[in-house]
Amino acid sequence: MVDDSDLDAARRRIASAATLEELRAVENDLLGKKSAIAAMNTRLGELAPEARKERGREINELRSALTGAVAARRAVLEEGDRSAGIAADRIDLTEAVRVPGVGRAARRRGQLHLVTQTRDELEDVFIGMGFTVAEGPEVETDWYNFEALNIPPAHPARSGFDSLYLKLGEPGTVLIRPHTSPVQVRVMEAQRPPIYSIMPGRCYRKDTPDARHTPAFHQIEGLVIDRGITFGDLAGTIEEFTNAYFGPDIHSRLRPASFPFTEPSAEYEVTCVICHGTGCRTCSGTGWIELGGCGMVHPNVFEAVGIDPEEWSGFAFGFGIDRLAQIRHSISDMRVMADNDLRFATQF
Ligand code: PHE
Repeated sequence: MVDDSDLDAARRRIASAATLEELRAVENDLLGKKSAIAAMNTRLGELAPEARKERGREINELRSALTGAVAARRAVLEEGDRSAGIAADRIDLTEAVRVPGVGRAARRRGQLHLVTQTRDELEDVFIGMGFTVAEGPEVETDWYNFEALNIPPAHPARSGFDSLYLKLGEPGTVLIRPHTSPVQVRVMEAQRPPIYSIMPGRCYRKDTPDARHTPAFHQIEGLVIDRGITFGDLAGTIEEFTNAYFGPDIHSRLRPASFPFTEPSAEYEVTCVICHGTGCRTCSGTGWIELGGCGMVHPNVFEAVGIDPEEWSGFAFGFGIDRLAQIRHSISDMRVMADNDLRFATQF
């Protein structure tokens, strides 16, 4: 005979099983082949038919009470296991950033690098002037980087770019671009004039890092092609852009220069904001900072991409984005742009 206190004791054993394994052992004890219930079942045959029926019903009730208690406890333990599994699998996606001066790991939100912010701002200025933004690959071929830009093989201008070549294809034919001008060619190939586009991007040259140079830097190229475009349009666009980006106090000047892909060509310079024109380390004592080159698109470039130079004329320019940011924020040494020092980066 099984009384209520036996049933309570069995329930307590089930409830106090702390792990699924313990529960399995208790279940085996209470309901398995060697359990009291199994023994009771075996002895049923010794009873008279009436008593056997009654006893059978009791045993079944007992069995289902215990089975239910085991199932309930198993559900609780399994849920616990699942939560523990989830907790153990948790990945911490937050990154501890050590902020100099704070003295312990503190968490702070990231931000865009000054160069990226400057690029965004320049895009806004030009978009406001009606330009679209285009992009091209950083790995270029000889055709886009030189030949289509009126720089044939062995042209002396090639050495001026201090290009970095890749071990790809014929030696000396694939390079990481030293300027954004190849994107001009890609834009002209993809689209018929009129064209009003800027092309920002990263460039590379074999330069030794100094106050004004880093081997990886950024340029923003501009290209305008339409009917009747003149050098005056170029000068006016550059003046407009200089005032929009630097404010009305910074002046620009164009000085005669030479580029194979433009004729006539000019160098674009702005007043040095560090020394205000008196001469300092940043401007190499000249009072002016050279930001890039510009000029009227050479007829040979038009011919390389199948645009009729009799019908269309245009101008192009290429400025250093890092250089523009350096000037506007009076950063005396360009190298901090690439140093990854948060004390610099978080100032902007
Ligand atoms: N690509 C030239 C350079 O990097 C700049 C330039 C662009 C000059 C467009 C003229 C026209 O030096």
